[in-house]
Amino acid sequence: MHQDKTGVTGSIGAFDDSWKIRAHEARQNYYAVGAPTNQIMMSFKNQWEVYRRFLGAAQALGPRSLEPGSGRGSISCYFAAAGFDAYLLDTSAEILRVAEDIFRENGLSARFVCADCLAMPFPDGFFDTVVHCGLLEHFEDYRAPLVEQWRVLKPGGVIIATIVPEKRSVQTLFSFVNRGLAAVHRVLARIGMVRSVGKEEKKSLYRSSHGSSPYVAALTALGARIEYQGGIFPVPSFSYSPAFPFTLMPRPIERALVFLWSGVLVLRRLLWPRRHPWMCSEKWGQHVLVVARKPLSV
Ligand SMILES: C[S@@+](CC[C@H](N)C(=O)[O-])C[C@H]1O[C@@H](n2cnc3c(N)ncnc32)[C@H](O)[C@@H]1O
Repeated sequence: MHQDKTGVTGSIGAFDDSWKIRAHEARQNYYAVGAPTNQIMMSFKNQWEVYRRFLGAAQALGPRSLEPGSGRGSISCYFAAAGFDAYLLDTSAEILRVAEDIFRENGLSARFVCADCLAMPFPDGFFDTVVHCGLLEHFEDYRAPLVEQWRVLKPGGVIIATIVPEKRSVQTLFSFVNRGLAAVHRVLARIGMVRSVGKEEKKSLYRSSHGSSPYVAALTALGARIEYQGGIFPVPSFSYSPAFPFTLMPRPIERALVFLWSGVLVLRRLLWPRRHPWMCSEKWGQHVLVVARKPLSV
């Protein structure tokens, strides 16, 4: 799969290999019914709280949601739990099997479709919401997946795109903490105190560093009305292995970090009471969020 590193296909082969080789990291349920217990669970829960602000009345109609490049479908769990007929689509059959297990464990149902997000097996205007986290930055030509998503979106529907750029956030200033943790972890692994995380096992993926502007331009050219363009995820993620797929720290440390980041969110809520504390400027946030609506008259 030489194509992968060019970002033409979304790094299909590298993702599939990563999901298989790093089965321990892949097999994580990040859907939280109650309080989140680790940093990634916390991130998806807050993302859902932000996303639902843009769903409006559609949510009450039992509509269809699509998550292209779904992986485990962590965010689709929230859509399914809220009454959406949730579709997960990914090129990795491996991770779709994991997603099916996670949905079953959580008592949720969804449809799992193994296909390419550049040519999806759905009719025009089929979905009320298209949502994805960590997909577009893996395409050099990010317009291609957006054009296909626009095709399957109903007039009046919404595309919610969360992008994880390579490096452009204030949060990357904290990467020295991750490097320090990795060094300590390597020493502990050498003396057999912890399971080692082989760096060589992490596949290199194509990942761009764009902010929201090019995505907004592509969506506007399709006729979209932009409802949000900005940052989200206003805290760093600490791990001794933060690159994809993220490695969780031991449980007590994850809980302590969730407690710490929750404190930061309380502070943000006090400072900016009118917006959700997970929302922030693009420079400040780890992720970029673009929300685009298809006008009724397209
Ligand atoms: C960063 S992961 C997304 C993880 C996901 N948000 C989760 O909660 O697990 C990106 C996913 O996109 C998938 N992908 C990459 N290129 C694709 C394509 N052309 N069509 C469909 N899925 C693709 C990969 O297999 C991978 O599962």
